[in-house]
Amino acid sequence: MLPAMRIGVAREIKPQEYRVALTPAGARELVLRGHEVIVETGAGAGSAFPDADYEATGARIGPVDEVWAQAELLLKVKEPIAEEYSRLREGLTLFTYLHIAADEPLTRALLGSGVAAVAYETVETDDRRLPLLAPMSEVAGRLAAQAGAHYLEKPKGGRGLLLGGVAGVSHGKVVVIGGGIVGYNAAVIALGLGAQVTILERSVDRMRHLEEILHGRVSLVMSSSLQIEESVAGADVVIGAVLIPGALAPKLLTREMVAGMKDGAVFCDVAIDQGGCAETSHATTHDDPVYEVDGVIHYCVANMPGAVPITSTKALTNVTLPYVEAVADNGLGAAVAHNPALARGVNVLDGQITYEAVAEAHGLDYRPLGDVLAAPA
Ligand SMILES: NC(=O)c1ccc[n+]([C@@H]2O[C@H](COP(=O)([O-])OP(=O)(O)OC[C@H]3O[C@@H](n4cnc5c(N)ncnc54)[C@H](O)[C@@H]3O)[C@@H](O)[C@H]2O)c1
Repeated sequence: MLPAMRIGVAREIKPQEYRVALTPAGARELVLRGHEVIVETGAGAGSAFPDADYEATGARIGPVDEVWAQAELLLKVKEPIAEEYSRLREGLTLFTYLHIAADEPLTRALLGSGVAAVAYETVETDDRRLPLLAPMSEVAGRLAAQAGAHYLEKPKGGRGLLLGGVAGVSHGKVVVIGGGIVGYNAAVIALGLGAQVTILERSVDRMRHLEEILHGRVSLVMSSSLQIEESVAGADVVIGAVLIPGALAPKLLTREMVAGMKDGAVFCDVAIDQGGCAETSHATTHDDPVYEVDGVIHYCVANMPGAVPITSTKALTNVTLPYVEAVADNGLGAAVAHNPALARGVNVLDGQITYEAVAEAHGLDYRPLGDVLAAPA
């Protein structure tokens, strides 16, 4: 193990972002491993973690300038925004959600600063799972079912129907398109609310798995244009949860299909962060989450987990902490050498783009991580 590392935790300043990248429980683990932890004043407040809870673990509370200037490893949730670019510097490893393929100014700021930038969203296991994205899909899926139930209420503009029904009154119908992490979690909560649930999937293997873990409590149907049209016409709530890795979401719901849905039905398009899976979808915010098209309420919030920062912070830090510990204990170079999933997270190192899709997106040069690490300092 290398000498102790100084780990900073920045306060998020992006509007509507209340998560924090390390909980007091995580801070204690790092302190117990001999590391120094500096948490920016108020960083945990939005997730109900006061400064005193961090101090009780042995972490230090400090102002923003100190945290960014002194940290060797800086933990964040969201990508740095323009006013933070000047804080990026050589010798700093930044670990956060970055999404830089869609953000050229940030890509150039990272390259010019000499920072090592590790992106949560591209940490990828050998079996192609994205462990640092999965918890946010779990949260979004569960929230989608709640949002569906909420906006079905008459005063919210919905049909005026209780998903669970009551004795003598039939249950509401929820149709989930895409049975991945979001879809499974949406189905679990919809079932819990008493709804009758159908999942449309196109992977037979995934359907077999869902059949097994949901013990036949949902209808599993092969996804096709005709099936989608028929299913959504009878639904009270439709949840869009498809993903085609690396691509925009397919427009599975045409405008005509939406028009064919019941008046006051709710459509939650969770895939909106990939462009949405209906022709009628456009992104909304928590301040103004819904709009109506042809009598169908559309809920299309692009950062759903932001609504529940206490849960989202804990879910995120549960999965990031092992990677943070690996980098803190071994240094970035040794940590990535032993952990291919973490290595895939490195997007920028020593002024070079080390993640091919990012270089392609901006027409910039790509250098494999191994080459950059092997280059003389
Ligand atoms: N809005 C938000 O706040 C938020 C939060 C988290 C995730 N998401 C988004 O939710 C979407 C789903 O994420 P996930 O983690 O569940 O992905 P996932 O890969 O676990 O699941 C996607 C599923 O869609 C299925 N699929 C693909 N094409 C299909 C089709 N034509 N018909 C039916 N099923 C199809 C796949 O087989 C897969 O099972 C993604 O677009 C993701 O970016 C949004």
